[in-house]
Amino acid sequence: MTQPASTLHPEIFERLSGAAQDQSRVSGLTHGFYRYPARFSPKFAATAIEQLSEPGDLVLDPYMGGGTVIVEAAARGRLAVGNDINSLSTFLAKAKTTRLTVAEIEAVTYWALEVVPGLNYRASSAQSLDALASEKTKNLSLPRGRFIKKVLATALASIDELPSVNAAEFVRCAVLNVSQWALDGRKTHTSVEEFRRKLSKTTIEMIQGIKEFSSTVSQHKRLPKIILSNGNANAIDLLPIFAKQGRRAKLIVTSPPYPGVHVLYHRWQVDGRRETPAPYWITQRTDGQGSSYYCFGDRRSHESGAYFDTAFETLRSIRRVIADDGLMVQLIAFSNPKKQLPRYLEVMQLAGFSESLQLEARIWREVPNRKWHAHARGVTNSAREVLLVHTPA
Ligand SMILES: C[S@@+](CC[C@H](N)C(=O)[O-])C[C@H]1O[C@@H](n2cnc3c(N)ncnc32)[C@H](O)[C@@H]1O
Repeated sequence: MTQPASTLHPEIFERLSGAAQDQSRVSGLTHGFYRYPARFSPKFAATAIEQLSEPGDLVLDPYMGGGTVIVEAAARGRLAVGNDINSLSTFLAKAKTTRLTVAEIEAVTYWALEVVPGLNYRASSAQSLDALASEKTKNLSLPRGRFIKKVLATALASIDELPSVNAAEFVRCAVLNVSQWALDGRKTHTSVEEFRRKLSKTTIEMIQGIKEFSSTVSQHKRLPKIILSNGNANAIDLLPIFAKQGRRAKLIVTSPPYPGVHVLYHRWQVDGRRETPAPYWITQRTDGQGSSYYCFGDRRSHESGAYFDTAFETLRSIRRVIADDGLMVQLIAFSNPKKQLPRYLEVMQLAGFSESLQLEARIWREVPNRKWHAHARGVTNSAREVLLVHTPA
């Protein structure tokens, strides 16, 4: 292997590439709150943050997805700044990093152990029945969703009883987690009894997760700050989120949408491949967008350049908020690396970045059986992911 260029010490490079190969089950802190598609290995995010930044440094993820980098940056005492165009992403990053008071934990525990076992789909309130009729629950009347949809509506109505917004959002995230388990890509029915049992158990596990996160962040002399974009924030304009910071990002750890790879970030698939926007119904966030909105363009337009145009726009905006001595670390998958990697690197260069690692030192990993679709001949259910490290040019 060729020596990495001077910006990365060989030992750091070794650690980073080792972590990039990590295939272990995602666990620890609040990482289990949701299975965000194409999420990072927390170990990779943690290693990059530890090796390439100091406590108090500003760490940014401009396409934060499930918020893996935000959780790990805050846990390591960094100022964590997160942005994403998907409102579901902001919901998740917030739920995963909002500490609960003792009273809130008691209320959530009571809900998990006393309210959930009594959830009954015959008791649907007027409000929940209203939701059942709307677009928000599209395709949930299909055989595998039918019962769950009703019990879910009663679970959501019961959230109103919780004493605070933070407790309610936490429980909403638990309902989201278990609904994903019960519906997304599931080949068998989930009974109402199974759903209730899983919801109680998951909520209690999530309480342990948020407690672990809280005790980790409180070990720092100063509580780490977390700044998240609101709702649907396009990385094309990152200045508003930086406006009050008075400084730029020392480290960016991120994973953009992938060229030629179609990932369903915003919907679940029920009964085969029928898509449901249920995640937005459950989290009370806005969707209303097609999948191309979250993937830098239509799945068929990747070849024609729409992907690279949007990538360029966002990278140029990222360039404006990175410190002169900052580093940008990315993990990115390609359906057709031979064609797409050179083009992506060209776009990085045009946006004002230069690559820190020499060509031969690049670290690739196969990503098998991920739930995404690659649009290149002969590539079906796997893609290759590469580690890229850049500095401002
Ligand atoms: C590969 S995922 C990131 C996964 C993340 N690393 C994690 O651990 O969960 C890419 C993310 O980019 C977001 N995205 C797509 N277009 C964007 C844009 N123009 N601005 C900001 N985020 C965008 C998607 O919504 C998606 O969440």
